[in-house]
Amino acid sequence: MTDVPAPNRLYYGDNLEVLRDTAQFPDASVDLVYLDPPFNSNAGYNVLFKSAQGTNGGSGADASIEAFGDTWTWGPSSHAAMMDIASGANRPLTVMMQAMHSALGDSPLMAYLAMMAVRLVELHRVLRSTGSLYLHCDPTASHYLKLVLDAVFGAENYRAEIVWRRTNARSTAGKWPRLHDIIFHYAASPDAIFNPQLVPGDKAKIPHTLITWSDGLKYNTFELTGAGLTKEGESGKPWRGFDPSMMGRHWGNSHSQLDEWANAGMIHFPKNGGFPRLRADEPFDPDARMVTVGDVWSDIDRLNQTAKERLGYPTQKPRALLERIIAASSNPGDVVLDPFCGCGTAVDAAQKLGRRWIGIDVTHIAIGMIEDRMRSGYPGIAFETIGVPRDLASAERLAADDPHQFQQWVCWQVGGFPREKKGGDKGVDGWFNYLTDQNRIATGVIGVKAGDNVNPGMVRDLGQVMKRDGHEFGLFVMKSLPTKGMREEAASHPLVETQWGRFPALQIVTLAELMHGQRPKLPPLIGPMKKAQRVETRKSHQKGSQGALEL
Ligand SMILES: C[S@@+](CC[C@H](N)C(=O)[O-])C[C@H]1O[C@@H](n2cnc3c(N)ncnc32)[C@H](O)[C@@H]1O
Repeated sequence: MTDVPAPNRLYYGDNLEVLRDTAQFPDASVDLVYLDPPFNSNAGYNVLFKSAQGTNGGSGADASIEAFGDTWTWGPSSHAAMMDIASGANRPLTVMMQAMHSALGDSPLMAYLAMMAVRLVELHRVLRSTGSLYLHCDPTASHYLKLVLDAVFGAENYRAEIVWRRTNARSTAGKWPRLHDIIFHYAASPDAIFNPQLVPGDKAKIPHTLITWSDGLKYNTFELTGAGLTKEGESGKPWRGFDPSMMGRHWGNSHSQLDEWANAGMIHFPKNGGFPRLRADEPFDPDARMVTVGDVWSDIDRLNQTAKERLGYPTQKPRALLERIIAASSNPGDVVLDPFCGCGTAVDAAQKLGRRWIGIDVTHIAIGMIEDRMRSGYPGIAFETIGVPRDLASAERLAADDPHQFQQWVCWQVGGFPREKKGGDKGVDGWFNYLTDQNRIATGVIGVKAGDNVNPGMVRDLGQVMKRDGHEFGLFVMKSLPTKGMREEAASHPLVETQWGRFPALQIVTLAELMHGQRPKLPPLIGPMKKAQRVETRKSHQKGSQGALEL
């Protein structure tokens, strides 16, 4: 048995490449793997099953699936993955993958399965014999993934198909509403650790939905809206000033039913203006009989719009879900690996439960969010981030190799957050939040130029966006030194007077300055994480302080 070099670690990069570095990821070095790979099943269900040789004349262009800027189309990397599997030692997997390929052809689904299979081989390799793997997916492709997992782990090591009921019923045209995700549990061997989990009887509900009512008792509360917009009737219309369509949702009940509940005092209206929730009839009884958790989990809500832990990352999972998995299949001090870690829910749960952890993600948004999440959640925490630029040369390399990721990374460096989608609005690549004199949060814009072809017109464009959208501050980040024309263009914007000093409205920042630790001079920045709480807790600290302050 070998030990992983130095948990806790966060890797930026493609997990296949990262995992194949056997010095960093020796055989049998991880105790628990949880993976929640991207899967755009809304778009995917129809698109995924369409063959690339189908009606589109085999171009494959309209048969691809967007997922975090990735697309599943059959191509050289799918072919390479199939070759890797065929040249590996796992004969049942080779046969299974070839059979699937014969049935599915060069389709997006087959590309997805090939991508998953090579990664599952590596994840199986790094697991200790006492370890487990949990694969989070949905019914779109779970039936195929189970066959792949059987081949990688051996069908005898299948442990459970967990159904996580994550949402309430909603109306869908002509089919059963989709309420659940699937989480497969496979053990590395019969020696895998398993700690049964207990919850209080049938009243079990997760604590974060509990609210203390005016009678002093705790009650469970439930969401009143369902996912998706609807144009039908009043379900998409505002009720008592709350408009569900603003969040892409609709009311699950009629306005008259909502009125009835509200009049009976059954609806909780959060003081922070968050969305109302329905109260349970009976108070929560913490002494209810404890029962063992089975393979259907309906007691963990998905993150609702007002959940405190919500970070705004699409597909973020509730920490309670990961806590259950980690508590069941690892012990304190064990190493938990999430190779598709997103905004770091597994990492956060592992830290909370005293496990060591490793996260891998291929976007700078995710890595930046996790760094921020862990530092703000666990002050003084030690971890290493690997694969992000450390010096000017590696930052320039990132700019040349992947301008979009470079833009994301720069936005985090200056204390802001990037646009999620590629393509800018007149050169806007991100935003930052800062504190105004009135202790309110305002937004500034960030433009990032990864290329060498930069001219004063681009600085002017950013200034125009600022004027058009009413932003007081803007940052223009570029690789090389600005020309005189660019500096003049930036200086044509006036200095902004604030209680923390006077700052240039439009500032040019160079990559070299960033790499030397210099940051733009701005009023106190508010990180994207839990910005509202931060304003509240830091208000007094900020009053009267001078100069730029990094929160
Ligand atoms: C469904 S999200 C995971 C969400 C996560 N469970 C959470 O709670 O935040 C999938 C993640 O996988 C990442 N990803 C996609 N392809 C990847 C790859 N080849 N290597 C590493 N990460 C990848 C995406 O950037 C995305 O953040």
